[in-house]
Amino acid sequence: MAKYSSILVAILLSFTVVHAELPAAAPGIVVDSSVSHNAAGYHVNGHAQKTKTGLHLPLVLNSGKTDLYGKAINKLSVDVDFETSDRLHVRIADTAGKQYLVPDSPLGLVRPKTKKAASHPNYSFHYTDKPFSFKVTRNSDKEVLFDTTGQPLVFEDQYLELTTKVPDNANLYGFGEVTGAYRRNNHANVTTLWARDVADPFYQNQYGSHPAYTEIRNGKAHGNLLLNAHGMDIFTMTGRITYKVIGGVLDFYFFVPEPATPNAVVTSYTDLVGKSIMPAHWMLGWHQCRYGYHNISEVDGVVESYRENKIPLETMWTDIDYMDRTKDFTFDPINFPISKVKALTSKLHSRQQRYVVMIDPAISTNTSYEPYSRGHNLDVFMKLNDYKTELQGQVWPGYTAFPDWWHPNVQKYWDYEVTNFMKSIELDGVWIDMNEPSSFCLGSCGTGKRNESPEFWWNLPADDYVKLHAEWEANLNALGTGVPGDSRNLLYPPYVINNGAGNLSEKTAPTTALHYGKVPHYDVHNLYGHAESHVTNKAIQKYRPGERVFLLTRSQFPGTGKNAGHWYVSGQTGDNFSQWNYLKVSIAAVLQMQQMGIAFSGSDVCGFNGDTNMQLCARWQALGSLYPFARNHNGIGQVSQEPYRWPEVAEATRLALAARYAMMPYLYTLFEEANTVGTGVWRPLIFEYPKDDRFLAEDVQFLIGDSVLVSPIVVENATSIHAKFPTGVWYDWYNGKAVNGPTSKTIEAPLTHIPLHVRGGAILPLKAPKMTIDATYATPYELLVALDTSGKASGRLYIDDGHSIEQQKTSDIDFKFAKGKLSASGKFHYHEQTKLEKIAVLGSSYKSVKVNGKSYSVRKDSTTGAYVAQGFKIDLTKPFSVEFH
Ligand code: GLC
Repeated sequence: MAKYSSILVAILLSFTVVHAELPAAAPGIVVDSSVSHNAAGYHVNGHAQKTKTGLHLPLVLNSGKTDLYGKAINKLSVDVDFETSDRLHVRIADTAGKQYLVPDSPLGLVRPKTKKAASHPNYSFHYTDKPFSFKVTRNSDKEVLFDTTGQPLVFEDQYLELTTKVPDNANLYGFGEVTGAYRRNNHANVTTLWARDVADPFYQNQYGSHPAYTEIRNGKAHGNLLLNAHGMDIFTMTGRITYKVIGGVLDFYFFVPEPATPNAVVTSYTDLVGKSIMPAHWMLGWHQCRYGYHNISEVDGVVESYRENKIPLETMWTDIDYMDRTKDFTFDPINFPISKVKALTSKLHSRQQRYVVMIDPAISTNTSYEPYSRGHNLDVFMKLNDYKTELQGQVWPGYTAFPDWWHPNVQKYWDYEVTNFMKSIELDGVWIDMNEPSSFCLGSCGTGKRNESPEFWWNLPADDYVKLHAEWEANLNALGTGVPGDSRNLLYPPYVINNGAGNLSEKTAPTTALHYGKVPHYDVHNLYGHAESHVTNKAIQKYRPGERVFLLTRSQFPGTGKNAGHWYVSGQTGDNFSQWNYLKVSIAAVLQMQQMGIAFSGSDVCGFNGDTNMQLCARWQALGSLYPFARNHNGIGQVSQEPYRWPEVAEATRLALAARYAMMPYLYTLFEEANTVGTGVWRPLIFEYPKDDRFLAEDVQFLIGDSVLVSPIVVENATSIHAKFPTGVWYDWYNGKAVNGPTSKTIEAPLTHIPLHVRGGAILPLKAPKMTIDATYATPYELLVALDTSGKASGRLYIDDGHSIEQQKTSDIDFKFAKGKLSASGKFHYHEQTKLEKIAVLGSSYKSVKVNGKSYSVRKDSTTGAYVAQGFKIDLTKPFSVEFH
C-alpha cells in the first residue's frame, strides 16, 4: 500500500480534501492509496507542498527503471495549478528545468500567471503516490475525465510517455491538423504531429500541430491540451489515449466547464490559447486565387470576368507567380511589372475590392538579392549546429536561408521587408506559405552554388535523386547528430514518430539546425509557422496601424488563430485530387480548426491538385461560399476553375454567395463571438446537440453558428441528401417550408442548390447581397424572425466600424420576439447610419405591424413563404419595439 505522511494529510485537509464519501467540496485533491503497483515509473518523494495556486509534488524515478528511448530523468516536479474554475493545469517537468518548454514569448502565447487557486473549481485532482499516477474528475457527477492509474509514466530527455484511460468507444474530436473524419475514435489510431509540407494525405501529419481534443461522453464534454511543441505520436485506441513525445515536458491543461457543453470547452480552450482574430468586413467576402496565373493581364481578366458574370468578388490574389524568379518582395519585370500590379490594386480599390499576395519565409541566398543581404547583416537566419554557418535549404527561388523568428533582430528585419513591399503596391493582406518550414533538400545544400538554379527533386530521374539524397544525407551526418553541449541525438532520436516524410529532417529544416540562443530546430519545429504568423502580423500592423490584419498561414499551432486564419490545400502532390472525398473532408477540416480557435479557415474551393470538373466544382462552390474563409484556389497546370468557367458553377456560386452576403451581419456577429467567447463560426451538430447521438459522427451536415443548418451534397451525381434535423422546427432558407425535428428527411438539391435551414427560435440580422461587402453593408438591415413552436425567437447583432482593431463605440443588440412583439435592447453605442427597413417572419401569419405608432401592412412573400413588413426606417442606435397583428 502506498503511504503518505501525516504532514501531507494536514496540508491536504487544509486544502479541502475530497473523498468519495464526503460531499464534493472544492478545490479537491485526493490522495488515493488504494492502488499498489510495482510497475516502473515514478513515486512521490518527500513532501507534497500546498502552493498558492495548487500543489507541488516532487517525484523520483522508481528503482529498476531502464532507459527506453533516451536518458531517464531522475527527479521530476508535478505542479498542479487550479487556474480557473474550468481550467486545471498539471505540469510534469524535470526538476532541473532543462527540458524545453513552449515559450511565452515572442509567440504571443500568453500563459496565464495564476496568483491563487480557483476557489470553486469544477474538477478535482487525485493522485496516488507510489507509483505516481493521477486522475482528473468532474465534481458535478464524479466522472473520471483523465486517469493515468496503472499506466506507465516515462520521462526521458527524448521520450515522454503517458496514457489515460477513456471509454472503449470514446468520442474524440481534435488532435489536428489531420485530414479525415471529424470524430477521431476508431479511425487511424495514431495521430502524428510534426509540421510537414504535404498535400493532405488522410490520417498523416501535415502543416499544423494541435495536441488537443474535446471528448463528448454521455452528452457532456471536457477537453485537454498537451502544450508541447515536440514531435509526437498520439495513439487513440480502444479504452485509452497514449502520448509518445520526443521531448519537452508533459504540460497538460484540462478544460472542465459547467455546464459541460462542447462549446464551453472551446471557450475554455481559447481562454488559454487566445481567441480567433476579428476579421474586417471585407475579409468575409469571396476570394479568388490560383497558382499559375501567367501574367497580370490574366489576373486582371479574371477580375473583369467576375464582373461580367455578375459573381461577387471581394479579393483577387496572386500566388508566387508575381515574383521575379519566385523571390519574395520582388516582381517579375515582364509578366508582373510593379507598375501594372499597382494599377490593378488601384483599380480594385476604386471598386471596393482588395488584393492579397503570397510571401514565403525562405529567402533566396542569391548574392545580388538585397532582402538576403539585409537579413544576413542583421544575422537573422537560422544556423547550422556550429551556430555560425547559415543553414541553406532549397525552396521555390532556389537556395534559401530561413528567418529565425526567435532572433531579436528578426522583427526589425521583417518589418522593413514586409511594410515596404506592401506599401509599394498598397497591398491589403498577406498569405504566408511553406512555413513548416518546407525545404526541398535535406540538410544544408548548395554550398558555393548560391546563384545556381537547382532542379526540384520531383523533376529528377529517380536514380539521380537517390544519389543526390545520399549526398545530402552524408553531408548532414558529417555535421553530427546533435548540437554542442547537448547530449541528445537530434538527428535520429531513438523513438521514431510516424512522420509521413520519414526522418524528421526530411523536407524541412534539419533538426540539428540552431535558432537564437542555440535552441535546436528539433525543439521548435512545430512552432515555426506560428512564430512567423506572430512576427508577420506585427509587421503588417506597422504598415497599416490600427487596421485589422489579413494574414493567412499554412502552418499553425495552438494560438495561431489570434494572428492568422488558416486554409487548406486539398489534394496530394503529384496525383489528381480535385476529388469528391476531399470536398467531403474539407468540412471536418474546417470544423477541426474552429475547435482549435482558428475560426477564419477554409479549404481550397474546387480542389488544388488535379483537374476539377463542372459538377464537383458546382458543389464545392456552393459549400465553399459558406466556408468561414471562402476562396477558390487552384494548382499550377490544372484546368481553370474560376466559377464563371461553367454556367452551372456560376449559378451555384451566385446563389450560395447571395446567401452568404445576405447573412453577413449574422456571420460578422459570429466572428465577434469567436473573437470574444471563442465559439466556432461553423459548428458540428454534436456541439450544439450533444445529447443527440445521431450527430456523434456527423461531419457532412453542420451549423453556421447555432441557427443555420447546412446540408451539402458531397457525393457525385447525388441530387438529394437524407438530412438529419435536430429537435425543433427548421425552415427552408429558400422557400420557408418547415421541417419538424427531431427527424430525418430527404431534401432535394439540384446541381446549383445547397440546402440551408434556419432554426425556429432564431432571429438573423441580414443585408441585401451585392457585388462587394462594402456595397452589401451599405444596404439597410433586415431581420429574419424564425419562430419556434411557441411563437418565440431571439437573436443578436454586433456592429462596429468593420475594420479598426480598437473600437471606440460598438453596438450589441439583442432581439426578442414573443406574442407578436419584436423588441431590441442592449448596447447601442455605434452610430449606425443604415436603418432596419425589413422584417420577415416565418412560422406565423400577420396582417400588419405597428412601428412608432404607425401601421404598415404585412404581405406574404410567395418565394420565401415569410410574412414581410417593410416601408419603415427603424433607427438602430436605440432600443425599439414593434408589434405584429
Ligand atoms: C504550396 C501551397 C499552395 C501554393 C503553392 C505555390 O503548395 O500550399 O497553396 O499555391 O505552394 O506557392
